[in-house]
Amino acid sequence: MSKLSLRDLNVANKRVLLRVDFNVPINDKNEIVDDTRIVEALPTIRHLISHGAKVILMAHFGRPKGTVNLKYSLAPVAAHLKKLLAKEQATVAFSAECIGSAAEKAVAAMKAGEVLLLENVRFHSEEEKNDAAFAKALASLGDLYVNDAFGAAHRAHASTAGIAAHLSQAAMGFLMEKEVRYLYEELANPKRPFLVILGGSKVSDKIGVIEALMKKADTFLIGGAMAYTFFKALGIETALSRVEADKLDLAREILAKARERGIKFLLPLDCIATQEIKAEATTKNIPLSKESGIPSGWEGVDIGLATRELYAKEIAQAGTILWNGPVGIFEISDFAGGTRALAEALAANRNALTIIGGGDSVTAVKQFGLASKMSFISTGGGASLELLEGKELPGISALTEK
Ligand code: 3PG
Repeated sequence: MSKLSLRDLNVANKRVLLRVDFNVPINDKNEIVDDTRIVEALPTIRHLISHGAKVILMAHFGRPKGTVNLKYSLAPVAAHLKKLLAKEQATVAFSAECIGSAAEKAVAAMKAGEVLLLENVRFHSEEEKNDAAFAKALASLGDLYVNDAFGAAHRAHASTAGIAAHLSQAAMGFLMEKEVRYLYEELANPKRPFLVILGGSKVSDKIGVIEALMKKADTFLIGGAMAYTFFKALGIETALSRVEADKLDLAREILAKARERGIKFLLPLDCIATQEIKAEATTKNIPLSKESGIPSGWEGVDIGLATRELYAKEIAQAGTILWNGPVGIFEISDFAGGTRALAEALAANRNALTIIGGGDSVTAVKQFGLASKMSFISTGGGASLELLEGKELPGISALTEK
């Protein structure tokens, strides 16, 4: 991906339109509960401030569906950003409009090194339609464009894609570059063995990733509810476990393809099962084989003890590890043991490149306090999956070639 980089731009005194992904979780009291995405955009923002740019931030927040809904206002994010930039003593202003005369006035008042956050671009229905006039109106506020919104790079929207055509230079920000490096470049020629851990609820969500990674990976470790679709396909009793009944042929095809290509495609040896999805429910460790499936009335909710041991051994030997999707219902502590055991095994392998590919596995690793032990944690959900699937991301392809 030979796209222009922020390093290639001369930003002094220029109005730089920086698209960020500030779509962060907030609670009922309007407090940001995880500011990772904002923190991860700081290197780009700091670079622009210290090089004398006028930093105009564009972002979306939630899905307000093209109407003004203050529940989705970015104002609390502007206040939080100001706190994060306290050391720089940067002015962080907020414009309640993202286009039009109020936004123009706010931009005209900016001095070099100042920051302005524009209100949620999704308050305009034209944003998600990638409307050319709306993209042009946004572009008219700046001289240069930088995209650091990796989490939204799979969206072909006005502020993530259309805008680039209206400005002379459109470059990747530092976060965007880092995401591409770990989720794309490092995996093109990985240190071997290259191990992929896939969990989550559905095989159908991961089929694109499985097919793309089968061309590169040596070993797959499967967990989460998706494992039960494979078990069902193999004729193993799954009882109340979540199964995608219409994906059994697909599961068999994947297993056959792995066998043909000599890929180690490991399914759990056992599982933790329960009769109720709730804290402190009774659980038991059940071996999984044709002879011993899940008993009637029970449901698999985590990988079992023998599986944890087997998977930890594989993890200890790997050179590159990519993890997407928890292997159990980790939100309930009694069912979190398997996901925790794998996170600990990754943390203990100091020789491997460990990449957490977005979504719930990121939440899990953070919950266990192991985030700092990983080589890289993606800020993308859908965007990481699409990049891993080998799809072109509109937010990247729209940028200027180097
Ligand atoms: C995300 O949170 O995954 C990104 O910000 C994209 O949001 P969207 O799924 O609402 O487009």
